[in-house]
Amino acid sequence: MALLELAGIRKSFGAIEALRGVSFAVSAGEVVALLGDNGAGKSTLVKIIAGEERASAGRILFDGAEVAFADQGEAKAAGIETVYQDLSLCTNLDVVANFFMGRELTRRVLGIPFLRDRAMEAETRRALEAGGTRIPRLGTSVEHLSGGQRQAIELNRFVHWGGKLVILDEPFAALGVEQTRRGLETIDRVRARGIGVILITHVMAQAFAVADRIVVLRHGSVVGDLRTDATTPDEVVHLITGGIERIGQPTTTQGEPA
Ligand SMILES: Nc1ncnc2c1ncn2[C@@H]1O[C@H](COP(=O)(O)OP(=O)(O)OP(=O)(O)O)[C@@H](O)[C@H]1O
Ligand SMILES: [Mg+2]
Repeated sequence: MALLELAGIRKSFGAIEALRGVSFAVSAGEVVALLGDNGAGKSTLVKIIAGEERASAGRILFDGAEVAFADQGEAKAAGIETVYQDLSLCTNLDVVANFFMGRELTRRVLGIPFLRDRAMEAETRRALEAGGTRIPRLGTSVEHLSGGQRQAIELNRFVHWGGKLVILDEPFAALGVEQTRRGLETIDRVRARGIGVILITHVMAQAFAVADRIVVLRHGSVVGDLRTDATTPDEVVHLITGGIERIGQPTTTQGEPA
């Protein structure tokens, strides 16, 4: 059973049809690269999945049940999170404070809550190491870390607190070559822990380096849904630009025909 299943998702902004009946699925432990030209509808689609926007029509099944998230908080509580490069960490706080944001461990002394700093630091260190990330000083405020380190903290935090589906919208746009390579490795490790990943990128090499499947959007419709090992960058470019009309069947049977 798929972790996420989209069936016939539509979204209009006034006269603009940004999504015209999008159907595809993401399994647990699968990385799906979502590709498409500027304006194809990628960000609109992931905003709908993450509860930031409401679809005009269509159904979303997550973890076996139909969902209609009212906002990002509800999606997050269900285990869906969007990771942008810098946005969701508090840069003036240290790594541990960010890791435990809203989930701080406390102990009461005479009825007064005290933060359990050492326990939180140890748990943060364990969680980061389990995800293959080493940050020497966890008391460092996040503003002094690199973009890649911030991303690794976000991803590991998400895994640690029981996240199930992570959406990355152009996560490497501001990163250098080495940081991007490490970011792709982090995605590999997240997948190995059974999490579903949707990766939006304009860089074909990144999609082919890490994705199990490639879904191509063009003008708000899915025009390709392909296993990465059964296609080529060339073919995908043609799907993106319209040089090839459409390949592959939608992965869902519940939606209207894509
Ligand atoms: N809030 C909005 N109001 C009106 N139109 C919108 C809104 N958001 C998106 N659109 C339109 O919907 C279409 C899809 O936009 P979207 O941002 O999803 O594209 P994208 O695939 O993410 O593109 P890019 O690669 O440039 O990020 C575009 O025509 C865009 O102008
Ligand atoms: Mg976008």
